[in-house]
Amino acid sequence: TKTEFIRRELVNWYRKEKRDLPWRHSRDPYHIWISEVMLQQTRVDTVIPYFERFIQAFPTMHHLAEAEEGELLKLWEGLGYYSRARNLQHGVREVIAEYEAKVPETREEISSIRGIGPYTAGAILSIAYGKPEHAVDGNVMRVLSRLYAIEEDIALPKTRKTFEQLVTVLIDPEDASSFNQGLMELGALICTPQKPKCLLCPVREQCRAFEEGKTESLPIKSKK
Ligand code: ADE
Repeated sequence: TKTEFIRRELVNWYRKEKRDLPWRHSRDPYHIWISEVMLQQTRVDTVIPYFERFIQAFPTMHHLAEAEEGELLKLWEGLGYYSRARNLQHGVREVIAEYEAKVPETREEISSIRGIGPYTAGAILSIAYGKPEHAVDGNVMRVLSRLYAIEEDIALPKTRKTFEQLVTVLIDPEDASSFNQGLMELGALICTPQKPKCLLCPVREQCRAFEEGKTESLPIKSKK
């Protein structure tokens, strides 16, 4: 089936072609959390050295919880969106106080933590804990809109729900981490906004946009 094909080809491609990124050496949910927060508004190449310095300075949640604001913001300098750093520290303090210093493993609990939205929740749950939870961001919406030739406006909040439902049935239950990161990686390396590299794409054979010549016109995105 199409679902099985996409699952298998995407996961195999990811295992072989994934970039060697520092947060991919860890399965510590706290480290994954930091990487996902940094990657929210900042490019991978920029994030790498910040991530490495941050982990050195605050290797555990306790280190970050006890850090002074000045030291924290100094490490964040250049990344911008400083509220992300303050929310991360607040969130870590919540995990220590309310969850015995263990990042929760359910979407409901993890979503109650400051700064963890639906995307970050799914990324941590799948990458750190292997849970088959969706992690849908703009890149993932672009990939899926092309694969299924979905013409809904990705700027609308309800469209994101459509993609979350779709991806939930697609996720490889045996390796949710590789599946979700495979979608992100495909969006970053192959299924790019302009000039996607379809000839290198592992799922081209099942891509409706490719078949119908719509790769350049999808996704549909109003304003913003
Ligand atoms: N962008 C968001 N999350 C990412 C991840 N885990 N790896 C690479 N790029 C990402």
